[in-house]
Amino acid sequence: MTADPFGRVVDYLRISVTDRCDERCLYCMPKGYRGWARRADHMTADEIVRVADAATRMGFRKFRLTGGEPLVREDIVEIARRIWDLPGAQTLGISTNGTRLAPLAQDLKRAGVRSINVSLDALDGDVYRRITGGSVERVLDGIDAALAAGFEVVKLNCVLMRGFNEGEYLPLIEFAAARGMPIRFIELMPVSRAGEVLGPAFLSIGELMGRLEVRGTLTPLPDFRPGHGPAKYYAFGPLGARIGFIGAMTTPHFCGTCNKLRLTADGRLRPCLGRHGEIDLLRPMRVGGSGPEDALRDAIENKPEDHGFSQCYQPDRPMTAIGG
Ligand code: 5AD
Ligand code: SF4
Repeated sequence: MTADPFGRVVDYLRISVTDRCDERCLYCMPKGYRGWARRADHMTADEIVRVADAATRMGFRKFRLTGGEPLVREDIVEIARRIWDLPGAQTLGISTNGTRLAPLAQDLKRAGVRSINVSLDALDGDVYRRITGGSVERVLDGIDAALAAGFEVVKLNCVLMRGFNEGEYLPLIEFAAARGMPIRFIELMPVSRAGEVLGPAFLSIGELMGRLEVRGTLTPLPDFRPGHGPAKYYAFGPLGARIGFIGAMTTPHFCGTCNKLRLTADGRLRPCLGRHGEIDLLRPMRVGGSGPEDALRDAIENKPEDHGFSQCYQPDRPMTAIGG
């Protein structure tokens, strides 16, 4: 086990396998974005597995594949299987927009993936398209396929935004509850566009909880932690729902339990989403032939105490390039 300077045990690695995506979520990808990494700069499957293997030797136990959209990568099933085959890997998840889940769900389950997070910001097709540029029907098919494939956890993620999808939270909660899925609401973070662009769309978790409490009781579920993420879960009486809240912007001490590092598709370790610091892991591995252990150790030692979102953090690269 490896702890950072603030005593947090870091045992969770989120690996972005590509910066490409087949959707264009307005909070993730700036309009007309052209900053794609070259394909040759993306980590290969062998390199990804080598990093994950080194990480397990340093005490990492939880892995999640992200993007961009991880399922656009052709060797995604192979990558998942090879990470799951590592003796130290205790859990493996994928965060996806769901558009390609229908044909891949069974193969991913067979490869060893335990948990799937699907982003779903709206059930209404027009609202969904306005936020993501894509079609909600394919995502709903993907969710059905994931449920049928029998993963340990399939849960939904929704970024709730004033003026965009604020009318969608009840339909989404009903949809999730009817299928026994947890649903998480994530506060909009200024990771891709500077705060002033989407600032007016920010809708706090506190406000959402207030709106829900008008309709029913939210009962804390302190021991419910599917996927080991940062959400605080509540049961929502009237619908029998389990709702997680990720108040990254407004929760005091949000970062006190952070257990993760991010690895970008071009092989840089990012100790915190809301701080610019990155440590190049891939170049020393390619040029110097050295192992990834030094970079992993460096990143843990340099993990900041908290994110800088409240201190006028300006994004240096968008979410799609960092990894969700
Ligand atoms: N703020 C909050 N959540 C975001 N995501 C992507 N960009 C942002 C942002 N700017 C979410 C996606 C996905 C998860 C991996 O991260 O909706 O569900
Ligand atoms: Fe693609 Fe996910 Fe970013 Fe949306 S949030 S553009 S689905 S990577």
